[in-house]
Amino acid sequence: MSSAPSETDFLVVGAGVAGLRAAIELASAGRVVVLAKKEVTDSNTQWAQGGIAAALSDEDEISLHLQDTLLAGDGLCNLEAAKLLVEDAPARIEELIQWGTEFDRQGTKLTFGREGAHSRSRILHAHGDSTGREILRALYAKAKTLKNISICEFEFSTDLRLQDGRACGIHAIGKMGEQRQVAASAVLFATGGMGQLYRNTTNPAVATGDGVAMAFRAGAEIGDMEFIQFHPTALYLKNAPRFLLSEALRGEGACLRNAELDRFMAKYHPLGELAPRDIVARAIMHELEVSPAKDPVVYLDLTHLDSKKMRLRFPRIYATCMQYNVDMTSEFIPIRPAAHYAMGGVRTDLEGRTTLPGLYAAGEAAATGVHGANRLASNSLLEGLVFGARAGRTMREELRSRSGRPGSHPRTTTSDGPADASTESTIRHIQDLMWKDVGIVRTGAGLRHAILRLEELRPPTIKPQTRRDHEAQNLLAVGMLVARSALAREESRGAHYRTDFPDHNDAKFLKHSIIKGDSIRFN
Ligand code: SIN
Repeated sequence: MSSAPSETDFLVVGAGVAGLRAAIELASAGRVVVLAKKEVTDSNTQWAQGGIAAALSDEDEISLHLQDTLLAGDGLCNLEAAKLLVEDAPARIEELIQWGTEFDRQGTKLTFGREGAHSRSRILHAHGDSTGREILRALYAKAKTLKNISICEFEFSTDLRLQDGRACGIHAIGKMGEQRQVAASAVLFATGGMGQLYRNTTNPAVATGDGVAMAFRAGAEIGDMEFIQFHPTALYLKNAPRFLLSEALRGEGACLRNAELDRFMAKYHPLGELAPRDIVARAIMHELEVSPAKDPVVYLDLTHLDSKKMRLRFPRIYATCMQYNVDMTSEFIPIRPAAHYAMGGVRTDLEGRTTLPGLYAAGEAAATGVHGANRLASNSLLEGLVFGARAGRTMREELRSRSGRPGSHPRTTTSDGPADASTESTIRHIQDLMWKDVGIVRTGAGLRHAILRLEELRPPTIKPQTRRDHEAQNLLAVGMLVARSALAREESRGAHYRTDFPDHNDAKFLKHSIIKGDSIRFN
């Protein structure tokens, strides 16, 4: 695995599903450099358990997948984007299978699971609960066969480079702390999510919103940042990570019990445990709040389900729970909600173009509007595939019409030692603030408080030198974007819930929030 060269035709920042799928699309048109912040396997894609949705079964229809996607999005999906997502899904999945992805089957037939807010069983899984890992493995293997693609690990992109208002490369820090510039004709941000904004998250440590923060600093439009999806069921144990307990467990019949061990979801929604995620997450928060127990949790209960089947269907979840001495087949699993997915990001059109010439975005870092105010389960790996491919194709086509080659740039060296205690405490401060004031249940007063506190943390308090400093700077930037958008949206919709504005306000807010610099508008 080499370090990043000083110039290339196409630069892809991020090596998850969207980045690798785009790189494969680009490889026929020029040199493609893919930068992974850490190892290729450090991504939300690698961690994705739940699966990938596509209307492929005999009982399913593309129109039903579309309908479920739109319903989950709570009125705010971009219809054209959602149509593309569900219509392109079968072809993208077939292609993955051709490239060696081993989805779970019964005999030769693909098996389809059910998840919350899906009207049909349409979720493909791989190795039970390791779908993202298997897709990434196959995409990586495919990318390795294409000689134009170079994948460089431990290359941390710190800022976008602009020339005459056009993206022309990035600044980065290499593995040994060396600072470099990589010039490119076109840049794709496929940098994934920002779950690390919150104290509790299902996301890996790399998910610090880097692409969104870099694009914002460079002057791109950012959209829909108030919509952060909280997954209802993350493992909640002292000294254990907030490991995701896939919704597919509830799809198989697992139920939720409060601290008194009573089932409660029927009180909140007719679909019970399979209600949309925002409703389940809020129901859990409410149960926690009203519980007389001192440090309450709620529980996921699958003890009534066939234990052998559960171990086989969810090998990774079973093994992880066992690591923390919880045998999920005979004990209730303590859980709480955790930040999981950002519906917002760098605004793009349907072909991945951002508002900055030469800069494209795809996957979780992008905001096409495909998920509206709330993403349907198992539409995110699909989004990365569909819109990664589309962005790659557009970059390829648009390169042909550009003349001139990127220039090369010298490297300079710096040190990149470990982050100091104040950086870590700043990050912790941001995460606590976001969890408390910009979390699952929001109020105007809480949001204003968060914005004030975040303002106080702005530079010069944070002067980015190390990678961790840059992450802190990025978290601060995206935290501010989420809080500002959430304050401006004076209604509740999808994953954004305010007790001071608990209803929809379609007349004013059936629109996307758009931030550019200091201005915010709805359109
Ligand atoms: C899950 O397995 O519950 C997560 C799937 C997703 O977020 O789409």
